[in-house]
Amino acid sequence: MRPKKTDFNYLVNAAKVARRNAHSPYSKVRIGAAALTSSGKVYTGCNVENSSYGLSCCAERVAIFKAVSEGHPDITALAVCGESEDFTSPCGACRQVMVEFNPSMKVLRRGDDGFSEDTTADALLPSHFDPDELDRH
Ligand code: THU
Repeated sequence: MRPKKTDFNYLVNAAKVARRNAHSPYSKVRIGAAALTSSGKVYTGCNVENSSYGLSCCAERVAIFKAVSEGHPDITALAVCGESEDFTSPCGACRQVMVEFNPSMKVLRRGDDGFSEDTTADALLPSHFDPDELDRH
């Protein structure tokens, strides 16, 4: 299913709402994400930090893992909301997780300061490690 533009507005709003639940007492950075599946379901996430810093998880991966664990790995779009451009730039780990499920996944970056960019997972991670390579191995 090709998402309509209005779906993206809904998706961005869902990410903004999820962001309120960010658990980020260490960095104080609040990020929200929302994944849209081909069946039209939306799974949201926020960053969840831990006092053992390395255990923290980004909003993007929380949203994606929720979708996958609920049986909806077919993610067509992912909205990421943060303060500004810098805080909507997915980390390398999240980019690799995105391409795992759909390199063509649309990524909608939105900042409170008005920053807005629509991109894709494979544009964010060119020359990425391709999971299909493992089948050919
Ligand atoms: N963070 C995300 O949630 N998504 C990103 O793409 C980059 C970083 C979070 C992780 C951590 O809680 C905080 O932002 C600062 O790194």
